[in-house]
Amino acid sequence: MAAPGTRTLTGTRTSSQLRGVAVTLRRPDFGYGRDIPRVWHDGGIAVTAFWNALSIAAPLLEAEFIRDAARLEGRLESEDQVRELRSFIRQEGTHASLHRRFNDLLEGWGYPVEACQAPVRRVLKVLARTSSAFRCAVALSGEHFIGEMGDIVLTRPEVLETAGDDRVTRLWLWHSYEEVEHKAALFDAFTAVHGRGPDAYLYRIAGLAVAVDVLVVVIPLTVARLLREDGAALRPGEWAALGRYLFVTPGLLRGRSRAVFQFLRPGFHPWTYLDNAALLAERREDLVDPSWEVPETRSRPGDAS
Ligand SMILES: [Fe+2]
Ligand SMILES: [Fe+2]
Repeated sequence: MAAPGTRTLTGTRTSSQLRGVAVTLRRPDFGYGRDIPRVWHDGGIAVTAFWNALSIAAPLLEAEFIRDAARLEGRLESEDQVRELRSFIRQEGTHASLHRRFNDLLEGWGYPVEACQAPVRRVLKVLARTSSAFRCAVALSGEHFIGEMGDIVLTRPEVLETAGDDRVTRLWLWHSYEEVEHKAALFDAFTAVHGRGPDAYLYRIAGLAVAVDVLVVVIPLTVARLLREDGAALRPGEWAALGRYLFVTPGLLRGRSRAVFQFLRPGFHPWTYLDNAALLAERREDLVDPSWEVPETRSRPGDAS
C-alpha cells in the first residue's frame, strides 16, 4: 500500500452518488431540558425504554463503527469512496455526541447509563480480539439493521414522528435520515477492500449473527434494566405494549425479517435490496435543516490527516 500522500486515487463514483445521495455532515444543536417528560413516547414506559436503550448503546456502537471504517479508509482506491467514508465517520461521530447529550438527561433522571452500557462493552471487548475484517463485517451488519430501522422511522410517522415529545423525536428523525443516507458507505468500503469472495461472505454472515445478538439480547436486557428503575420490569402489561409496538401496531420490526434473509444473499447490496434514495429527497425538507450542514474539510482524501 502506498504511503499516505502518495496514494493514487481513482475517480470511481460510489453507489450512493450514482443514486444522487450525498453523505453530508450536519451538526444540529439539540438540547434536552429537564422539562421533557420522563415517559416521552406515547407508547408508554416500555416503548420509551426501548428507544432510551438504543440511545444508551449508540455512542459505543458508533465509536466501534468509526474505528472499523477508519481501518478501511487507507485501503480504498476511489477518491469519492474515501470522501464518502470520511463523511460517514463524521456523521457517526456527531450521532454519538448528540446521543451522549441525551444520555446525560437519562442520567439526570436517575437511570444508570454506565451500568446499562456494560453488556455492549462486553460484546465489544470480545470483538476486539477478532480480526479487523470480522469486526468490519459486524459493523456493516449493524449498519444494515440501523439503516432498515431508519427507513421504517422515515416511512411510518406513527412509529416516532407523531408519537412523542418532538425535542426527543427530532434526534431520532435526524439520526434515522442519516442512517439511510449513509447505509451503503461501510458496505461499499468493506466490499472494495475484502471483495465478494467466500471469505468476505462468511465474515458477513458471522457478523450478522453478532449484530442480531445485540438486537435481541443486549437491547432487551437494557430495557429490563431501565424498567427496573421505574419499578415496571415485572409488569406484563408494559412488556405486552412494547411487543405490540414492535410487532403489531405500528410495528417497528413488523415484516422486516426479509431484511435478514436478503442480507444472507451473496449478491446483497444495501441499495439494490431497498432503493429508498427517493425517500431521502422526499423527507429532506421536513427532517434536516440546511443550516446544520458543515462544509467538507478541504484536505484531499489520501493526504495525511
Ligand atoms: Fe449513527
Ligand atoms: Fe450508521
